[in-house]
Amino acid sequence: MEKKTYYITTPIYYPSDRLHIGHSYCTVVCDALARFKRMQGYDVMFLTGTDEHGMKIEQKAKAAGVTPKQYVDKIVDGIHVLWDLMNITNDRFIRTTDDYHVAATQRIFRTLYDKGEIYKGTYKGKYCTPCESFWTESQLLNGGCPDCGRPVEDAEEEAYFFRLSAYADRLMQLYADNPNFIFPESRKNEMINNFIKPGLEDLCVSRTSFTWGIPVDFDPGHVVYVWVDALSNYITALGYENDRYNDFKRYWPADLHMVGKEITRFHSIIWPALLMALDLPLPKMVFGHGWLLMGDGKMSKSKGNVVDPEVLARRYGVDALRYFLLREFPLGSDGVFSNELLISRINSDLANDLGNLVSRTVSMVERYFDGAIPQNRQAEESDQGLIDMLNKLRAGVESHMDKLSPQSALMDIFAVISRANKYIDENSPWLLIKDEASHPRLAQVLYNLLEAIRVSAILLNAFIPESCETILAQIGQDAAQLESLEAACYRADLNYDAVKKTGNLFPRIDLQKELAELDRMKEEAAAAAEKAPEKTAEKVPEKTADKADQPEQPKMISIDDFMDMQLIVCKVLDCQPVKKSDKLLLFKLDDGSGTPRQIVSGIAAWYKPETLIGKKVVAVTNLKPVKLRGELSQGMILSADSGFDADGNELVTLIELDPAIPVGSRIR
Ligand code: MSP
Repeated sequence: MEKKTYYITTPIYYPSDRLHIGHSYCTVVCDALARFKRMQGYDVMFLTGTDEHGMKIEQKAKAAGVTPKQYVDKIVDGIHVLWDLMNITNDRFIRTTDDYHVAATQRIFRTLYDKGEIYKGTYKGKYCTPCESFWTESQLLNGGCPDCGRPVEDAEEEAYFFRLSAYADRLMQLYADNPNFIFPESRKNEMINNFIKPGLEDLCVSRTSFTWGIPVDFDPGHVVYVWVDALSNYITALGYENDRYNDFKRYWPADLHMVGKEITRFHSIIWPALLMALDLPLPKMVFGHGWLLMGDGKMSKSKGNVVDPEVLARRYGVDALRYFLLREFPLGSDGVFSNELLISRINSDLANDLGNLVSRTVSMVERYFDGAIPQNRQAEESDQGLIDMLNKLRAGVESHMDKLSPQSALMDIFAVISRANKYIDENSPWLLIKDEASHPRLAQVLYNLLEAIRVSAILLNAFIPESCETILAQIGQDAAQLESLEAACYRADLNYDAVKKTGNLFPRIDLQKELAELDRMKEEAAAAAEKAPEKTAEKVPEKTADKADQPEQPKMISIDDFMDMQLIVCKVLDCQPVKKSDKLLLFKLDDGSGTPRQIVSGIAAWYKPETLIGKKVVAVTNLKPVKLRGELSQGMILSADSGFDADGNELVTLIELDPAIPVGSRIR
């Protein structure tokens, strides 16, 4: 039987913004949903990408002295690195500057024109440059953009219009026939009352005042309105009107467009109307999720309160951040982010509940039974409560995930984890070990705990995948179980004979110390920003900023801080490209320890892997390991930023050492 398909999309991100934790929110949520659907047996297509055209990019590129394409290329590289770091398993990544998308969008525009859905007229109105949005006078809020509140400009020009006004009745019918088309319900009311009832106007869908966009191929000088270009990504990425892909029939219509609440309007009014005009089936659901807020405002760089997901993921671990984003707030509502909330959630759920359950259980199995649960076990009536909970867990979690509530799914799983911790205390294994006659009972208690851990790990896999692999390794179970929900039920007949602790899953964070350290970091950043205000604006996103262009603001560190860093001379044993990445190389290094060290390094653009074998390099060996494109990276190989080539591309040189220096030598 053919698998059922599931097509899920995130919005495509503007590369003009530095991606902050709010952007990661939507992508992490979609990733968890996509992973879960795969585990349910669906044939999933998970799409994300970047929305790269528009006046704003053109202006920023000009200010940075590069072409718009050069400008976006660098930022998109950074976005790939972030999604890799966050373990995002998108099946496809679309850039609106991709040739196939450009050509397909031109065909879409022409088809709409040929069908009379688009006509030529004169545009008079207001334009919000930061939002790339046209507004009529009546839509303005206190004279400013109703989305962002910023001032709008008068605009008048010859332009093409889409007959959006003709679609009001069909849209109302769509919402009535499909109560879940816009979700949550409150957003649907907003669409109807604020936009459709006051009267839809035709939509201006071309511009002539800038050139960084998809040209209207039958009318030079016009470029396609950036939202028509952007929304089309959901079908061009499947191969609609292009032959780069051939998945349109298989996956369209989308099951879920996950979007932030402020762009629900584009997805639930303009997008379905465009699809109706093209005679295409309509997506099944547009989910307008809430925002992560800082204090009382939306997270944004201009308000000086962006929280960098890369910094947080590297400090606390990718899974800790993913868990927080998925667990803390209900998906439809806004939530106020704070570092304190993040750390407290990590400590209470991950370190105390899950971490403790795994650590206590595994340690006891090692201590009492040398890592192998004996076959002679004695079950008791009182075990049934925990076993029943385990057997019901999968259905409950599936039902929450079907309702798009990862938060409730996680609450259910953690209720079982708490129950299992209580089960330890109720059965006091430390007393059972004292009496030989109680050893079969002890074996059963520990067996049940391992089952609680195994079932929970399978059900947690969509949310915190790396940790679940580690957990299964610690309890000596095959990681293949994580691929499907099938194994998420209590089994009485498993062998647990290779239980082994390999480290602390989620170390407890000292809240006060950590908050003080974060404050210090923020103050330092603020001081640096004050000294160089012109560099801190959105001109060049920090993640990919030209380092040569930044004022030197070195952070002073103590000799102790430096000595904490282990810089080790390593020899390259092997070097291969990383699958599905044109940036990364996978190194196997001899670091003198006797066990080869694996490091992923982003230098594929500058080096052919085979030329690096045998070279002596410097590796930082005490960095927290991370996974990049699915490959474990145990440290970092040092290289130097070496300026730019004639096209403005960054140059990087690997630091190579004198071959005479022995492997394993410490550099200091
Ligand atoms: N390019 C458009 C989307 C086009 S889709 C055809 C866009 N890009 S964006 O980069 O500005 O935003 C991408 C997504 O991030 C949006 O869904 C937006 O709501 C979301 N978020 C941006 N800041 C956010 C928070 N602070 N919190 C949660 N989500 C946030 O819009």
